[in-house]
Amino acid sequence: MRQMIFPSLALAAMALTHTPLWAQDDTEARLEQARGAVQQFAQSLQNELKTAVEEGGPVHAIDVCSQRAPEIAQEISDSTGIQAGRTSLQLRNPDNAPDDWERDVLNAFEERLAAGEDPKTMEHHEVREDDGGWQIRYMRAIPAGELCMTCHGTEVRYDVEQALLRKYPDDQATGYSEGQIRGAFTLVQPM
Ligand code: HEC
Repeated sequence: MRQMIFPSLALAAMALTHTPLWAQDDTEARLEQARGAVQQFAQSLQNELKTAVEEGGPVHAIDVCSQRAPEIAQEISDSTGIQAGRTSLQLRNPDNAPDDWERDVLNAFEERLAAGEDPKTMEHHEVREDDGGWQIRYMRAIPAGELCMTCHGTEVRYDVEQALLRKYPDDQATGYSEGQIRGAFTLVQPM
């Protein structure tokens, strides 16, 4: 329990750091952009995954997921200037590892879930100074739904499990149940 309390305190402390007035004015509009980008990312990926599972089966869909997720993120970045990705506390692809800030937010999401909050609308943002410039960072929880169970659930089919392990030998992203938080979209937008 002691470990679980720390992220909230860390986040509260970060939120208290000084934000310039101009950045505060800008924040709401940028948040709306970030929410739009997440929706686009989630919708495109979910549609493509669903089609791939239905038409080619789950083993084929693994390749679609691993190729298309970074491509869709790149498309969003090209069209909006927002850097987008996915991360998790239990990774499939180690390239998606969270940085310290993202890990704190993911831990805080788990606390919020445990406190009864709906993961479908769970988000967190912060205006921060980083790498010499101001930026807004935004994260949105990704709940595990029915479609996800095929490749992230507790009873993953044998051929799917084998295909996942071939591609991701350190896969930690199975064993989820519906309603848990599978991970989060994570966005960085320069201000
Ligand atoms: C067909 C198999 C498949 C299905 C179905 C699937 N995923 Fe994945 N998922 C993957 C693969 C493969 C990766 C690794 C992608 C990569 O290389 O970036 C992944 C990675 C992720 C990640 C990035 C973090 C990490 O562990 O690398 C998240 C978040 C995620 N999936 C959420 C979901 C959610 C939510 C659903 C249901 C809507 C879902 N996935 C359905 C195969 C699947």
